[in-house]
Amino acid sequence: MPERIDRNLSLELVRVTEAAAMAAARLMGRGNKNAADDAAVQAMRVALSSVGMDGTVIIGEGEKDEAPMLYIGEKIGNGEPPKVDIAVDPIDGTRLLSLGLPNAISVVALSEEGTLYTAPPGIFYMDKIAVGPAAKGAIDLNKPVEWNLRSVARAKKIDISEVTVVILERPRHEGLIREVREAGARIKLITDGDIAGAIMTALEDTGVDILLGIGGAPEAVVSACALKCIGGDMQCRIYPRNDTEKEMALAAGADMNRIFGLDDLAKGDNIFISLTGITNGELVDGVKYYEHGVETHSLVMRSKSGTVRDVRARHRLDKLMAYSEIQFADGNS
Ligand code: FBP
Repeated sequence: MPERIDRNLSLELVRVTEAAAMAAARLMGRGNKNAADDAAVQAMRVALSSVGMDGTVIIGEGEKDEAPMLYIGEKIGNGEPPKVDIAVDPIDGTRLLSLGLPNAISVVALSEEGTLYTAPPGIFYMDKIAVGPAAKGAIDLNKPVEWNLRSVARAKKIDISEVTVVILERPRHEGLIREVREAGARIKLITDGDIAGAIMTALEDTGVDILLGIGGAPEAVVSACALKCIGGDMQCRIYPRNDTEKEMALAAGADMNRIFGLDDLAKGDNIFISLTGITNGELVDGVKYYEHGVETHSLVMRSKSGTVRDVRARHRLDKLMAYSEIQFADGNS
């Protein structure tokens, strides 16, 4: 990918997640997940369409017949080179947003064509383990939970009782939570949003050391993109929820035991990712409103340089032309 285009993409991606976050934030706490998602998707699509690239949505809102926009396979961008894979999650944590809870974010990741992993048909979930740079190389999904916790504690030169594990609060994780407690580590349960959970492991001031558990397969790929930029580590294994999903995956030639590392989930070293806070959270602040404007807070990352940019932007409402119709589609202009 030519250097000139690299620069353009990294600058432009933040505008995409800012637009989606601003559009969705107006619906915080309204209890309407679909309306918030629609607003974010529309805004993200408008912003993405002006980016100088020949992009294909690899991870999106679903198949064409179920998602009118940002569906898997949709062509995005102005059609000029480079050819890129795009992973979009207009809102990770739609429920968090609909209830006004922390850590709802808007995310988009971009990489060279053919580099982002897509799960086999029928597979929606992966078993995940993620850590930040200090524990890179210290994880093994084939080993017991306690082994991983001790290994991460050793790598970070802390006691296992000081290790904090972030886990999605789900009935399927009851056994995992028990194992972590028996090993003597601390737990931070999150109700949604395991992309933010994975990224927390790589940012020291969050106090989170490791993410464990089963979450969305698309979210695993987006998390891997972020951890490749920050320098963390991640391993995943596909997780069929039932025999039907297992049979579909096996029929497609999937290996149930294969461990996917960062480079399997997101190949190469030309990855860009931007995330913008919709509600306040550990990674970024949520969207805030002022008399004549809106403030957004984003993290923009690039794997080649390992740069993580912390971007705060003040948007003037009277200048938000491109997105204004979408933002105020809820009648709140
Ligand atoms: P959505 O915002 O798309 O609903 O995803 C939220 C999320 O919590 C993800 O972060 C996570 O990977 C996935 O859902 C877990 O799935 P489930 O809620 O089915 O356990």
